[in-house]
Amino acid sequence: MSGAGLRVAIAGATGAVGREMVATLELRGIEVSELRPLASARSVGQLVHAFGRDWPVRELTTDAFDGIDIALFSAGGDRSRDFAPAAVAAGAVVIDNSSFYRLDAEVPLVVPEVNAEAIHGHRGIIANPNCSTIQMVLPLEALRRAVGIERVVVSTYQSAAGAGQAGIDELLVVTAAALAGQPLVNKTFARPLAFDALPHIGTFQPSGYSSEEEKMCHETRKIMGLATLPVSATCVRVPVLRGHLESVTVDLCEPLPTEQARAVIAAFPGIVVDDDPASNRYPTARDCVGRLETFVGRIRQDNTLPRTLHFWVVSDNLLKGAAWNAVQIAEYLTQTGRHHAS
Ligand SMILES: NC(=O)c1ccc[n+]([C@@H]2O[C@H](COP(=O)([O-])OP(=O)(O)OC[C@H]3O[C@@H](n4cnc5c(N)ncnc54)[C@H](OP(=O)(O)O)[C@@H]3O)[C@@H](O)[C@H]2O)c1
Repeated sequence: MSGAGLRVAIAGATGAVGREMVATLELRGIEVSELRPLASARSVGQLVHAFGRDWPVRELTTDAFDGIDIALFSAGGDRSRDFAPAAVAAGAVVIDNSSFYRLDAEVPLVVPEVNAEAIHGHRGIIANPNCSTIQMVLPLEALRRAVGIERVVVSTYQSAAGAGQAGIDELLVVTAAALAGQPLVNKTFARPLAFDALPHIGTFQPSGYSSEEEKMCHETRKIMGLATLPVSATCVRVPVLRGHLESVTVDLCEPLPTEQARAVIAAFPGIVVDDDPASNRYPTARDCVGRLETFVGRIRQDNTLPRTLHFWVVSDNLLKGAAWNAVQIAEYLTQTGRHHAS
């Protein structure tokens, strides 16, 4: 970091997550002396307005990282594979939002409230987990610290924004077409998403699970340091523009009455419990858009199994699920003086 502030590159700065990365750096008041927005050749010539001035978008190339302290990558796994090593070689620490390095044993996979200490072992690259995994592990870690956890079953209700700007655009267009009685055309999603729900995120694997579902299992295990934790996910795309919602069932090591579970989850950093069935209080996607926190409601002990708990967890996938988690890691790096590759 230069004396006057942090020099930050954002690979994928023109995308749905990249734009939120810029906004979150500003929101957090991080002192940035240089912002270097990087994207494809298509975006060269655009300007990104932030920190009181316009920054020209440059093409993402291997020589785009000279003098950079922290490089936030959010341009897809292939770009992370092709350009993150060059950023590290130029002296930057990479915080990678793609899935490319997440399960690499040498790369920490970090949700700061859960395993910030893993950052200490970085060798230049730190991975940001999958959006649906990040919001789930916050309440899971709270329960794990209180009584221990034995098994997780989750069904997700994931928004169109999880597929980036193209996903948002397609949901708007296909919804308008449906309302106008016109043909429904889909490209980003496997089927038209308007007024429907698709149990299909990523690609189907030989296991019968989708790649998104497998990510939720493997990434949860790595973040929580529970290598054999059984995690079974069903990931569903729903016609919500932004914000992911999840129904989670967790088998605990000890019984935990509902009121105690609420208190344990509410005390965990980054979580807001919004849970009052008597007054119809529970979080929705609309409530969480633009918020950094993760919201939990519908917390209840299973009606027959005292060691089983159910809850509903909602967060802005573009913020805690992506940009905010990455900026949190950047804040941790700067606060601990670890923003240099070792
Ligand atoms: N959306 C989410 O909720 C979410 C959550 C967690 C992680 N992620 C990950 O974050 C990454 C970005 O997602 P997104 O939702 O922001 O997608 P997006 O809206 O489609 O944005 C993609 C970004 O990548 C850039 N890009 C694409 N191809 C490129 C190339 N060949 N060279 C240089 N830049 C290129 C795009 O630049 P142009 O504008 O020039 O095309 C754009 O800035 C992905 O790896 C995704 O898996 C997304």
